[in-house]
Amino acid sequence: MKNIVLTSALIASAMIAAPTFAAPAKLAVCAACHGQDGNSPIPGYPTLAGKDKAYLVEQLNAFKNDTRADAVIPNNMNNQAKALSDADIDELSAHFSAQAPK
Ligand code: HEC
Repeated sequence: MKNIVLTSALIASAMIAAPTFAAPAKLAVCAACHGQDGNSPIPGYPTLAGKDKAYLVEQLNAFKNDTRADAVIPNNMNNQAKALSDADIDELSAHFSAQAPK
């Protein structure tokens, strides 16, 4: 009985810990301009931290489909988004929306 309780506690803590350590695969590319935590280090580059996940998914798809043009660096975000799968977009949007804006 004691072992079962201990095992379940370990499984539960592993499940809680997982999302904290799993950084999106493509995060390093975005981090150069938007910061690892979505707080952009570059003036004029938008902060993504804390923005609504659905909003971020929508913007990345709009860049990908060319329905939104990059107004700051021509074509940059369009090319960035074209390199992302639906799963990447979902993962990156979840990551940035979960960060605290500074
Ligand atoms: C070379 C710099 C650069 C890189 C790399 C880059 N971005 Fe961007 N991103 C920008 C700039 C500049 C804008 C603003 C474009 C505009 O307003 O037209 C932007 C806009 C965005 C927006 C829209 C934000 C808003 O508030 O509407 C999202 C979402 C975004 N980027 C996500 C990403 C993701 C995800 C990655 C990585 C796959 C990435 N960016 C890589 C520079 C970059």
